[in-house]
Amino acid sequence: MPHAKIVGSGSCLPSRVVTNDDLARELAARNIETSDEWIVERTGIRQRYIAGPETTTSDMAAQAARQALQDAGLSATDIDLIIVATTTPDLTFPSTACLVQDKLGIPGCAAFDIQAVCSGFVYALSTADAFIQAGRARNALVIGAEVFSRLLDWNDRRTCVLFGDGAGAVVVTASDEPGVLAARLNADGSYKDILCANGHVQDGQLSGDPFVRMDGQAVFKLAVNSLAQSALDVCEDAGVRLEDIDWMVPHQANVRIINFLGRKLGLDSDKVVITVDRHANTSAASVPLALDVARRDGRIKSGDLVLMQGVGGGFTWGSVLARM
Ligand code: UT7
Repeated sequence: MPHAKIVGSGSCLPSRVVTNDDLARELAARNIETSDEWIVERTGIRQRYIAGPETTTSDMAAQAARQALQDAGLSATDIDLIIVATTTPDLTFPSTACLVQDKLGIPGCAAFDIQAVCSGFVYALSTADAFIQAGRARNALVIGAEVFSRLLDWNDRRTCVLFGDGAGAVVVTASDEPGVLAARLNADGSYKDILCANGHVQDGQLSGDPFVRMDGQAVFKLAVNSLAQSALDVCEDAGVRLEDIDWMVPHQANVRIINFLGRKLGLDSDKVVITVDRHANTSAASVPLALDVARRDGRIKSGDLVLMQGVGGGFTWGSVLARM
């Protein structure tokens, strides 16, 4: 049975950087008080990238995909599966994956979206792994891409300071060498209300609340506990010890969640990739963006054992353990 191996990665960030001070000034104009000090202390976020109105999720996804293909030394025509994880698709349909396929100019291969909010990338990577193991794909593009800023209520300081936009992509290929060793995906829909955007289109109108709403403390606790258990589960499935993990690439929502998780698992903090300070929470894009940063700066190398984890709305969570 072939193994699904990550052989390339890429990313795309909008050009506009918004620092906490910039945001505090913009919110002050709306009589909403926040500060760099509060945001850094509670979340570790220092800045985020915000897409302009002309930029779409599929634009950033296609750009990240091109970079991942170049990194993998493959051309777009080698790709036979495209999976895009996103909560902010360009359109209700066609899927963002179909739009990316068109932008890459490779008609014919399977292309679809996955909606698991901030867990989307690990859901998509696990799905690509299953396709490759089953012999139904040889070279897959797995992308997490979001313009999450479009779902933000700029009058709600509890959420609007937390998120940013961007895209990350990997190329996963069928290989004789070990790649994805194990994956665990979970969801509990009974927690649907603690993190949601309840709007939908009905009769040509937007119905319900279109903005992200979150019970931050409930999400925080659930995130730490579910990711800790998921890490143990995936290690058990793969027959490896936690201490054998070279790099942990967790969902980048809050540095305090990441630190709590690391302490709970007894993981050395030097082994944890953190980009939330620069990118903020980019939902489905956060894990592939962080992975790409750590591959490009030389921390994550070929042969390393990497644990990727996502958690978010649904409630959803999951882990993929992979040999690079
Ligand atoms: O992608 C997965 C999803 N999301 C997450 O994983 C997020 C999980 N949750 C969190 O990261 C944290 O709960 C938050 C960062 C959202 C909030 O941090 P917290 O330490 O739980 O703060 P809190 O909600 O308990 O609020 C503390 C205070 C409140 O004021 P009072 O009631 O104590 O007077 C808030 O009104 O901080 C206030 N506050 C703010 N102050 C300045 C909330 N947001 C802000 C803000 N600036 N932006």
